Amino acid sequence: KNITLDYGKALAFVREEELSQLAPAVKLAHQLLHEKKGPGQEFTGWVEWPQTYDRQEFERIKNAAARIKEQADALIVIGIGGSYLGARAAIELLGHTFRNQLKAEKRQAPEIYFAGNNLSPVYLKHLLEVLEGKELALNVISKSGTTTEPALAFRFFRKLLERKYGVEGARERIYVTTDRNRGALKRLATEKGYETFVIPDEIGGRYSVLTAVGMLPIAAAGIDIEEIMAGAREAMELYANQNLEQNPAYQYAALRNLLYAKGKTLEVLVSYEPQLHSFAEWWKQLYGESEGKDGKGIFPAAVEFSTDLHSLGQYLQEGLRNLFETVLMFEQSTAELFIPEDPDDSDGLNFVSGKSLDFVNKQAFAGTLLAHADGGVPALVVNIPANNPYYFGQLVYFFEKACGISGYLLGVNPFNQPGVEAYKKNMFALLGKPGYEQLRQELLKRL
Ligand code: PA5
Repeated sequence: KNITLDYGKALAFVREEELSQLAPAVKLAHQLLHEKKGPGQEFTGWVEWPQTYDRQEFERIKNAAARIKEQADALIVIGIGGSYLGARAAIELLGHTFRNQLKAEKRQAPEIYFAGNNLSPVYLKHLLEVLEGKELALNVISKSGTTTEPALAFRFFRKLLERKYGVEGARERIYVTTDRNRGALKRLATEKGYETFVIPDEIGGRYSVLTAVGMLPIAAAGIDIEEIMAGAREAMELYANQNLEQNPAYQYAALRNLLYAKGKTLEVLVSYEPQLHSFAEWWKQLYGESEGKDGKGIFPAAVEFSTDLHSLGQYLQEGLRNLFETVLMFEQSTAELFIPEDPDDSDGLNFVSGKSLDFVNKQAFAGTLLAHADGGVPALVVNIPANNPYYFGQLVYFFEKACGISGYLLGVNPFNQPGVEAYKKNMFALLGKPGYEQLRQELLKRL
């Protein structure tokens, strides 16, 4: 069984013929991507990665993960954006909802905390408090090695580990994922003798979860990374099919572009499973950073149902009609709970007693799908056979492949992110970084 795409509830908004008319454009996008002739071609190493990844490094990742499990009660994963979101997505989706609160014997892997993804002193202080008295290990992830947020967090945690274990002891517990040769972090790792893992040159941050960036923290969390790669490999085969009719990832790419052309400028990723929360964050980065440029692109947003049906549900049903939904649905839940009978039926819900909670969740999905279609919101439904590492790998590759094709259909370079530099320049100038003196004066006048 594989992931399927059901676009039946979008057909009142786009016709089948419109989709088939896009087939030649999709074919061209496919060729540009596979023959590495499109914009950003130097960052398309992720396309073949499930087949070409370095098996020796993969073994080293598994060994390091085993060592982290022995060494640490808690692993701190430092990184931001593409060096962070994929690992978090996998660990939350594939692990226990309350994994850090579980008894260690039950979890059989360290607690995992994320740092270096914001600049909040409160977050860091609270994290340091939670970590008191625990045995620690650290995975710092940064391709450039100079990103401010993770670099600052690493300063705090390197100091903490060196105080706690000495310089030698800290060396055994610090794992660095960065560029093969370049950057400040690479230099520091070489100087200090930290074990390092590689972020390949030809894979950009938001496409890097299947490299050491994601694999080390995910393996340390006790998740089967071989299965993830097996799922991604299968997806690589499936979605290499140029035929639009047979390729759901390409259909998704084409449909979202058709909807965009009709004024649906906002895509809402919908899930019915709280474990998908960080997956949606990963997806938002993938699509937002890949397509939001040159004055165009769909704005990616996310909601969790049924929670958000009680807040944003009103807007979705009756607000501005510039949006469409992409729904992630697991065909099978990983938990089965049956609703108990209440002899008094005080809440009037005995008509569902004996039914599984997943059945109720799925009826909420079906009811909402129809209501939103009636309200003018097209929906694309991505059906995922089950929630496990294999389908995580498939799903990641599904969205990555669709994103590359979608970006080429839109006519942008889906593999750069020139716009993220603007805030950094201003921040450095305001912080007084040498070389930014003139900009600092200009900005201070404007503040
Ligand atoms: O997708 C991207 O390129 C960005 O989100 C980066 O991953 C993010 O800025 C972190 O960069 P780095 O890994 O260099 O610290």
